Amino acid sequence: MKKTIVLKVNPKEPEIDKIRISANFIKKGGLVAFPTETVYGLGADALNPKAVKSLFEAKNRPFDNPPIVHVGDMKDAYRLARVVTPKAKSLIKNFWPGPLTLIFERSEVVPNVTVAGLDTIAVRIPRHSVALALIRESGCPIAAPSANLAGRPSPTTVKHVLYDLYGRIDAVLDAGQTRIGVESTVLDMTVDPPQILRPGGTPYEALKNVLGRVELHPVAVAQKEMDVDKTRSPGMKHRHYAPDADVIVVEGESSAVARKVNELAKFYMEKGGKVGVLATDENAEYYKADVVKSLGSRRDLAVIASNLFRLLREFDLEDVDVIIAEGTPTDGLGLAVMNRLRKASRYKIIKASG
Ligand code: TXA
Ligand code: MG
Repeated sequence: MKKTIVLKVNPKEPEIDKIRISANFIKKGGLVAFPTETVYGLGADALNPKAVKSLFEAKNRPFDNPPIVHVGDMKDAYRLARVVTPKAKSLIKNFWPGPLTLIFERSEVVPNVTVAGLDTIAVRIPRHSVALALIRESGCPIAAPSANLAGRPSPTTVKHVLYDLYGRIDAVLDAGQTRIGVESTVLDMTVDPPQILRPGGTPYEALKNVLGRVELHPVAVAQKEMDVDKTRSPGMKHRHYAPDADVIVVEGESSAVARKVNELAKFYMEKGGKVGVLATDENAEYYKADVVKSLGSRRDLAVIASNLFRLLREFDLEDVDVIIAEGTPTDGLGLAVMNRLRKASRYKIIKASG
């Protein structure tokens, strides 16, 4: 086991000595967790096959699920991609740096392990001073999946990173809680119209405004389990965002949801289970369960997104047997929230009505 160094940095103006210590680990093939505007990532030199292999191992991540490659400027993105279409260029102009990952056909400079043998690559420029400083000082593109063990909710604080990865990585740059709290939107630019493979920090509506047409892959909506053969994004077939407890999602109009959640909570408590409710502010006081936690107001989906992964982790520590989660609206960041909740529930989705 390694000793993992924690380096506290100023999120706006990161101290250069701490960035250099971290960049030296990356240059030598080591692993460094760092903040982005979405969640913490676990970084390795994307062009060093040995480093990327150890990145998969540290996370227990299956080798067929490639990470996102983070770059500091457009020039580096162009080096990794074979073709950048005019549509991709307009997205880049509008959304980078930011929570949008674009899938391109890949160039020859990228090692096979980094893209899990695919002929495409996932690339983004993050909107975070610490991430950008680390990329710049390392002098290479940085492959970075979320800095959690595979199958756990993505980390939004360094506490989460260390809980999963202490002793498995060289260092972590601590810049406090990440702003957005759900991962980037993954958009496939190798098809036309472009297709959202994973909803995330850049809303569908915003992409539609720029592109005119954009499709949602059915797995991105995550209304039911899909045949793996029908899925194009490698990550889609792996279970994600899974707390230890069983999760049930109740969707529908707010007051109907509240009634149904209480009905289910009563049923499971009578069976002797410890029951958690993942609520919204509008309904939280109404619930009778062992543990009730609120994500925030249904009217502020950005706040709900920023609290989601933290609360799922908190429920695990409470040792509840079942988590009954309120579905949220699916506009804006709500689609990303519901994608995570539906997947965490393994598609145990109940529609409340009346
Ligand atoms: O916000 C984020 O995206 C965070 C931060 C650290 O940047 N990163 C992140 O990475 O969530 P990761 O590796 O946990 O998720 C990457 C997603 C996975 O669903 C993976 O399957 C998909 O991107 N992906 C990677 N390469 C791909 C490719 N060539 N084609 C299709 N999907 C790809
Ligand atoms: Mg991940």
